Amino acid sequence: MTIQAKSEYGTFRDSLKAPVHRWFTYPAGYSHKFVEAKVREYGLGWDSTIADPFLGTGTTSVTAKMLGINSVGIEAHSFVYWVAKTKMFLHYDIDELVSAIPEVSAKARDLSAQLDWENIWPPLVYKCFTDDNLRQLAGLRQAINDFDDQPHVRDFLKLALTSTLRIVTTAGSGWPYIAPSKYQSKKVNRHAFDEFQARCRLMVADIQQVQALDLPYSSHDVLSGDARKMDSYVADETIDLIVTSPPYLNNYDYADRTRLETYFWGIHESWADITREVRDHLVVAATTQVRMSTMNGVRECPGIREVDERIHRTLTEIIARLGEMRAVKKGRKTYDYMVAGYFEDMLQVLTSAWNVLKPDGRFVLVLGDSAPYGVHIPTELIFGELAVAVGFSSFEIEQIRTRGGKWGHNPQRHNTPLRECILTIVK
Ligand SMILES: C[S@@+](CC[C@H](N)C(=O)[O-])C[C@H]1O[C@@H](n2cnc3c(N)ncnc32)[C@H](O)[C@@H]1O
Repeated sequence: MTIQAKSEYGTFRDSLKAPVHRWFTYPAGYSHKFVEAKVREYGLGWDSTIADPFLGTGTTSVTAKMLGINSVGIEAHSFVYWVAKTKMFLHYDIDELVSAIPEVSAKARDLSAQLDWENIWPPLVYKCFTDDNLRQLAGLRQAINDFDDQPHVRDFLKLALTSTLRIVTTAGSGWPYIAPSKYQSKKVNRHAFDEFQARCRLMVADIQQVQALDLPYSSHDVLSGDARKMDSYVADETIDLIVTSPPYLNNYDYADRTRLETYFWGIHESWADITREVRDHLVVAATTQVRMSTMNGVRECPGIREVDERIHRTLTEIIARLGEMRAVKKGRKTYDYMVAGYFEDMLQVLTSAWNVLKPDGRFVLVLGDSAPYGVHIPTELIFGELAVAVGFSSFEIEQIRTRGGKWGHNPQRHNTPLRECILTIVK
């Protein structure tokens, strides 16, 4: 394997070209080739089980299914979980599926002429599409919601329409957020009806391709849950390999990434909805998740103090520095709380992982370091050392790429070079 191929492991680039993986563009996703490489490296077979506590849109589980290996995946973001779950059902009756597409499309055309589409969404949605596409999208949404006697087919159609949204949006910023300043900055000549049908065709072709492989039976649990409590859903010492990519400590708000999609489907209507239903359930990795009033004790890292004095000292020094910078820096970002919350949360993930892994099992992560306000945090090193502190026998770090170049022109940004690594922890 060349270094160059490995450099893409932490990105979604390979997965965007692969059947089923490509059903939803998740920039936080990683490469299915990384999972395949690890399965090969550790010689896993039909009686092995692989787990991913931060499943995202299901790359690990979909890959395991293609390889005929059992899997358990856990995802705490309810909408992202639904995407993963939908990608894991591939036993469609192709005739039923193929006839549902024109049926729903015809109904959507009728509905789009009748519906009062001007008052059904929060303002963000109206800012992201042309009137013509809003009308078409409203018709499609209603027609799919009404298609309720075949839930799997409805989920399929719903995912096809979900992935159509970013194709036909006029908002130029795309992922991860729809930046308000960039509204309407892109010309779009694509029609929602046409793009929806094209997405459906692509997904049907993928299903036909996978069904033709006649994959051997394997068992897969996709769970809506919390990585920190993995050992409450998974029995002790049953997992051969954990492969994952956790949130990085880079102030990225996963809860907000799918705002356009969840507003569109009427799942959320406001920031407060998203906080209550998603943001509050995720590992702390962004200042938007910090509530200083309830996190005072967390800032002292009591869990880490209990497992290792030295790591605790290193971390609390970093946290104290970030606290001082908060007082004087622009934005007054609560990075100190974010860092403390992150490592306290990840400590629970490590303990949980240790419990579910078989003896000699491996916990393999794609992970990046970070530098809030320019203070370097060697996340992968601290995480490896914490792993040993909770009982793992050893760890190894392999750098796969450098990061951060694309922000180099931004004067607000630090100059600390960052990297992405594979961290392998041995039980
Ligand atoms: C880097 S992404 C993983 C992407 C995944 N490898 C893929 O290919 O789609 C990290 C994921 O962890 C999820 N997450 C954050 N906190 C979580 C928690 N406490 N339990 C489970 N999942 C969580 C986020 O919602 C996000 O989808």
